[in-house]
Amino acid sequence: MDDPKDLVRRGYDALSLHYDAAFQGETKYRRWLSDLSGELAESSRVADVGCGSGIPVARDLVKAGHHVTGIDISEVQIQRARELVPSAEFIHADATTVDFPAGSIDAVVAFYSFIHVPLDEQFLLLQRIASWLRPGGLFVATMGHREWTGTDDNWLGAGATMWWSHADIATTRSWLTQAGLVVESEEFVPEGDSGAVLLWARLAE
Ligand SMILES: C[S@@+](CC[C@H](N)C(=O)[O-])C[C@H]1O[C@@H](n2cnc3c(N)ncnc32)[C@H](O)[C@@H]1O
Repeated sequence: MDDPKDLVRRGYDALSLHYDAAFQGETKYRRWLSDLSGELAESSRVADVGCGSGIPVARDLVKAGHHVTGIDISEVQIQRARELVPSAEFIHADATTVDFPAGSIDAVVAFYSFIHVPLDEQFLLLQRIASWLRPGGLFVATMGHREWTGTDDNWLGAGATMWWSHADIATTRSWLTQAGLVVESEEFVPEGDSGAVLLWARLAE
């Protein structure tokens, strides 16, 4: 089988526009982002892991006055994000390889991106995120609910293969704790016959 990360990268290179067409009408991000802004001081530094095209997350966080750095493994997603949200910064990289200075970030968001990171790298990525955050910094993410790894050879009917991998939420919770992140809330987000979990966690002070 192809390297799963290559499948994900190539998949989003091919599907960037289809993804936005399918999901840009989602309204659930509004509350998540306004809740986050309510917790942040003005001009906070926010990293967006798996930022996609930057719409709506990076765009709305910039509008709320924050300094946003988006990271995405797909070159097409990053090119589009640079055009669509010119006031944010974007890094084309696998998030598991990115370094920010220790304690330099006020909040990290990761919406629907951990679900594409191989299971054996998710704890490592959480540890990295914890190292980027200042004490008391926030991590807000949607994670898988039940353990599942699989592919769809024609995702969104657009002819490209996509790959997902997620742990059950109890395992993710224990990884967060081991990484020094204190879980503050968990909310099930229903999607079709399944769903994700919205997690809020904070780096211990
Ligand atoms: C489902 S999209 C979500 C986009 C955006 N966060 C949102 O909620 O609208 C997942 C994004 O994560 C990115 N991604 C997946 N694995 C990644 C990795 N290892 N490093 C960086 N980005 C990754 C994909 O390229 C894709 O753009």
